[in-house]
Amino acid sequence: MVGAGHTRFGVLPEGPRALLETAVRTAFASVDRGVEPAAVEEAFLGTLGISGWQLGNASAVLAEAARTPGIPVTRVENACASSGFALRSAVRTIESGRADLVLVAGVEKMTDSPSGRRRYWLGVSGDTEWERLAGLTFAGVYGLLASRHMAEFGTSPEALAEVAVKNHEHGTMNPNAQFRKRVTRDEVLRSPRVAEPLGLLDCCPVSDGAVALLLASDEVARKYTDTPVFIAGTGAGSDRLAIQERASLTSLAATRRAAEEAFRSAGFGRDEVDFLEVHDCFTIAELLALEDLGFAPPGGAAGRTLAGETRLGGALPVNPDGGLKSKGHPIGATGASQAYEVFQQLRKAAGPRQVPGAERALAHNVGGSGASATVTLFEVG
Ligand code: COA
Repeated sequence: MVGAGHTRFGVLPEGPRALLETAVRTAFASVDRGVEPAAVEEAFLGTLGISGWQLGNASAVLAEAARTPGIPVTRVENACASSGFALRSAVRTIESGRADLVLVAGVEKMTDSPSGRRRYWLGVSGDTEWERLAGLTFAGVYGLLASRHMAEFGTSPEALAEVAVKNHEHGTMNPNAQFRKRVTRDEVLRSPRVAEPLGLLDCCPVSDGAVALLLASDEVARKYTDTPVFIAGTGAGSDRLAIQERASLTSLAATRRAAEEAFRSAGFGRDEVDFLEVHDCFTIAELLALEDLGFAPPGGAAGRTLAGETRLGGALPVNPDGGLKSKGHPIGATGASQAYEVFQQLRKAAGPRQVPGAERALAHNVGGSGASATVTLFEVG
């Protein structure tokens, strides 16, 4: 990775096209020795297209926004993991030797739809017959996973709340975050119920935003910067769409598969990872991620979280940018946003939220309730 750009996340006045233009412009501007758009050979765009935004051929909008007309652009849609999969596709394209400079972008405009319509557009990424048409929302699905985790492992509401407290604390240090305010454990526990046992402050918000990344082959990366961030491994997996069809409700098999593949291809193990960017769309999702990625045994993530190990300054900081919970979750932009944070951290440019001495990181992006997932491993160049 040689460049990365990010809009603020939140309730924004711009439409998707303008958001993409800003993200791409800042990505180009971030390249230390400069880069011309004409040097980009291929691009990938992650977006769900909430509210029906440009359902067909959205890829062409990215070429327009990037001022790279004529290059091949592929739109990737895997719900909340769209740009995680777009990133993986870009890595594969470079690995194949077909391109040396590839653009990856993610965008979503969520806040200009009325809530009923938004629920529909979020619901389309869950199972239709058994979940969406029965009225189950994503908060409802993750509420079920949380209940099951509590029943099997005795996970406490306090442990879930601590994820939100920590991520809101981290978000205060991120100028791109939607919420830059602290919340207390008590406020999380007493927040209005959304889907038992999850309250308002257990949920990620509804967000607008866009992110762009510039990926170069190892051969040309140093032409653009002395401090590239290398992608050491990628992995991806899928699972049954409906949660009732899955082998377990306390583990996402897609995450497990993605992590196994990513670590198989990287030259380092879990003990060498300095921090994690994980997909905390609901507080329970961060605990599941720690366990499925292999950083805690089943049922063990709550203890690590309550002991403060996942805070900045702890043994394994998780979501130093505030995570989806506080930074925001514009569906198609989230996976790219995680890579953006890694780019800042590994180049020691994350300001007050810098993880001291960070050299290796993991980013984990989940589609919907876990039907798809990617894991990407990064290291300093
Ligand atoms: N965390 C913290 N504060 C939140 C919040 C969240 N997730 N969502 C909304 N708020 C705040 C708003 O800023 C607003 O604050 P204000 O009164 O100070 O301005 C207040 O709560 C009410 O906001 P509103 O937009 O009316 O909330 P809502 O009830 O319409 O929506 C949720 C709340 C939790 C239902 C909504 O954020 C949601 O659906 N989140 C999940 C999105 C999702 O499923 N994504 C896909 C994941 S797989």
